Amino acid sequence: DYVLKQHDILQRDEASIDFNDRGYHFGDGIYEVVRTYNGTPFALEEHLDRFYESAKKLDMDLAISRETLISLINQLISKNQLKTGIVYLQVTRGVQDRNHLYSREISPVLTGYVASLDRKHEVMQNGIDLWLTKDVRWLRCDIKTINLLGNIMAKREAADQDCHEAIMHRDGTVTEGSSSNLFLIKDETLYTHPATNLILNGITRQVVIKLAKQAGLNVVEEAFPIDVLAIADEAFITSTTMEITPVRSIKGDVDASIHVGPLTKKLQEAFNNLIS
Ligand code: PDD
Repeated sequence: DYVLKQHDILQRDEASIDFNDRGYHFGDGIYEVVRTYNGTPFALEEHLDRFYESAKKLDMDLAISRETLISLINQLISKNQLKTGIVYLQVTRGVQDRNHLYSREISPVLTGYVASLDRKHEVMQNGIDLWLTKDVRWLRCDIKTINLLGNIMAKREAADQDCHEAIMHRDGTVTEGSSSNLFLIKDETLYTHPATNLILNGITRQVVIKLAKQAGLNVVEEAFPIDVLAIADEAFITSTTMEITPVRSIKGDVDASIHVGPLTKKLQEAFNNLIS
């Protein structure tokens, strides 16, 4: 079991984290989750773009070149003999005596590890149940920060209601899932929240928008109210780990029963062609 710490690949028990790491004190850091299929990272360039973007938005300097990072990721994958799984990458602002005011003199701390994770064939075929709840997060959801309290509270709430994922709304406008983006389909048109400060612009979301357009479907990136969920023809969530997963019901702040439909299946097929 090998992990990444700064520019080194180490045995997990050789690597340690400082008590004064700002990630530990303040959640002052960013992360990425990259899928691997048969040992090859999927959409790595897009994930790295977002990683550097998140850093920039938080006035952090990753202090590592893209080439070095890519090389370390590939070493981590091969050392662990990872096939189908994920690479987790994280950078915190650095180590400093606890102080809300961050110093610009400290160095960022890069860590990473991998985990095997099979594709979720069962749910990708049969669909999942969503729990619709309030979005209580901050106003910079476009930054992929490790500070995820709003997300994890919503996810627990969903699980306690026997739902697979939480979908959130701000004052009745649907934003995204606790760890995914949401699409709905009505009259052969895809609807999803635009990539503003209120959602994370998912890499899978961006891939699906491209695939949908290639398939001749209309894509409308506009926010929609929660009542629309009840009249959707189809709906699905997207994420690195869940790929394109159909929605079969929504509970909580609306009640909807939805069929796993042909357009979702068509997009899933197009996605499968991309990764194989
Ligand atoms: N989550 N929205 C949120 C809030 C997310 O946390 C994620 C991903 C997404 C989908 O983004 P992408 O398609 O780039 O994975 C949307 C990751 C997988 C996680 O936290 O594990």
